[in-house]
Amino acid sequence: MERLAIYPGTFDPFTNGHLDVLERALTIFDKVYIVIAENSKKSSLFTVDERCRLIREITAANSGVSVEVLHSGLLAEYAHAVGATAIVRGLRQVKDFEYEFQLSLLNRHLNPEVTTVFLMPNVKYTYVASSIIREVALLGGDVSKFVHPCVLAMFKKKYEEQDAQ
Ligand code: COA
Repeated sequence: MERLAIYPGTFDPFTNGHLDVLERALTIFDKVYIVIAENSKKSSLFTVDERCRLIREITAANSGVSVEVLHSGLLAEYAHAVGATAIVRGLRQVKDFEYEFQLSLLNRHLNPEVTTVFLMPNVKYTYVASSIIREVALLGGDVSKFVHPCVLAMFKKKYEEQDAQ
């Protein structure tokens, strides 16, 4: 039977750290759905369509990956609907643990058939987070080591739009 995992996140934007976690997940699962979901506590820079296009471009060479959007509803229900047995989350540092622990136990309560699997990215990405990358990029800093060139190009566009205002 095909082992399907979902890898959810806001991915605003998708970073090389996310890609690292995805590649590790692909060594365990036959198929991984990257699920762009909204975190109600965050407002985003990139639209869902932009994030979707960027992630499709970044992962085009990874067979077994599909990029999906959770427009509404619970992730646990989505996992059930698509037949996923695992939710993949990246753990970068100890401080991620408390939030991830809470999220995974709630998801288990909502869907006991789904298990959260935590994967650690390469140590060089442990201090990378989308919000800090956004801040540095929009202030004109170099983030080329942390994101794919297509994300860099999109940042340039946003930076120019912001500058023109
Ligand atoms: N490399 C780089 N950055 C990483 C990373 C890695 N390997 N792993 C995590 N991060 C960063 C992200 O960039 C993000 O940074 P930011 O806070 O600066 O944006 C942060 O760690 C965690 O964000 P993300 O992975 O995008 O998750 P999230 O906490 O924003 O998203 C959802 C949480 C979307 C999965 C959750 O809100 C959800 O499931 N929503 C759907 C609705 C639902 O079911 N809610 C109930 C949940 S119990």
